[in-house]
Amino acid sequence: MDLSGKQLLLGLTGGIACYKSAELTRLLTQAGATVQITMTEAATKFITPVTMQALSGRPVYISQFDARIDNNMPHIDLSRCKDAIVIAPASADFIAKLATGLCDDLLSMLSVARDCPLLVVPAMNCQMWQNPATQRNVAQLRADDIIVLGPDTGLQACGEIGNGRMLEPKAVYEAIIALFQPKKLVGQRILITAGATFEPIDPVRGITNRSSGKMGFALARAAAQAGARVHLIAGLVGLATPWSVTRENVQTAQQMYDAVMAAIAGIDIFIGVAAVTDWRVAQVSDHKLKKAAGQPPPPLHFVENPDILASVAALPTPPYCVGFAAESGELGINGEAKRRRKNVPLLIGNLGPKTFGKDGNEVILFDEAGSTPLPRADKQSLARTLVDEIAQRVLGNFLYKLG
Ligand code: C5P
Repeated sequence: MDLSGKQLLLGLTGGIACYKSAELTRLLTQAGATVQITMTEAATKFITPVTMQALSGRPVYISQFDARIDNNMPHIDLSRCKDAIVIAPASADFIAKLATGLCDDLLSMLSVARDCPLLVVPAMNCQMWQNPATQRNVAQLRADDIIVLGPDTGLQACGEIGNGRMLEPKAVYEAIIALFQPKKLVGQRILITAGATFEPIDPVRGITNRSSGKMGFALARAAAQAGARVHLIAGLVGLATPWSVTRENVQTAQQMYDAVMAAIAGIDIFIGVAAVTDWRVAQVSDHKLKKAAGQPPPPLHFVENPDILASVAALPTPPYCVGFAAESGELGINGEAKRRRKNVPLLIGNLGPKTFGKDGNEVILFDEAGSTPLPRADKQSLARTLVDEIAQRVLGNFLYKLG
């Protein structure tokens, strides 16, 4: 069974969609999971604890004070030894609590005290969902690596039509199974560079490249979810660190080079996603360069930065190296030429100006066998596909070495 041996905690908060969680509980238990139900007081107005106890086969917990728990600390006791906590339905109020870390009842306390992944399945009126406060809170949950599933669009219990319906029980169930999929990169140590580097001109100015860091961070997250130990070296990036990833921040290309070389020993796979500034200003002014009437702009002289990817690929025993290339045209020719020039087994090319800062991306893989375009996808789904592609190639190399 797909969920054999899995220990899940299913939390219900106040909303008419509580009826869907009755069906979800059945699906999960039938797939082999042990499901511990916890409800907020408001949830008990929509569905009875008796129903949820009967379906889960276990007592339901509601209060943060409960003598049935030996040490009377249900928020610790219930949040430990779980494979995942799922909040379904999650009300706007509960999402707001999670976003701020507020914990004034058992379910919010054990969510904050957890040491396992948290999945949140929103359910609310469409106006409540669209409310900027809710949207801010949901963005915060995602930034905190809480998995948000849904909501769906359609007819709501209140009679209005819009976005805010809780996902159907089967969809939530499928998402929970996906969480436990095989870890393709388990045991692999991966070093990833992401984001843009920045080269100062003077204390207030500098040059940089266009890069949000989204693709590199998505890859770090996907690799960590696939079981790898991921070390992420980030340039100028305003993104939260993915779950279980070790992050180091740098500014200049030279600092990124130094950080990579300091971390490279023992690394199995190096993925250079960073948009590294090719040149730096030869003489950085230690005071702000001033405009003066009638004077021409100051001349800037550049020197070349080290090529981090090519340097790693040229090490005596290099890790499996993956490069990225953002081209503005002729991707087919430029991608393969760059792969050969940097001497890496795999290069992932895209048309940069089409994807900068966006959530979607469309890439072509270049390797010894030729080029393979991948269909357009959001960066996180694409990252999962790329992790699969990299895992296949690394495993192939490993078997080749064994042979
Ligand atoms: O030459 P170009 O910048 O297009 O190459 C892109 C690839 O090389 C990316 O993987 C990028 O992270 C890496 N790179 C690097 N060091 C540089 C320039 C690029 O590691 N100085």
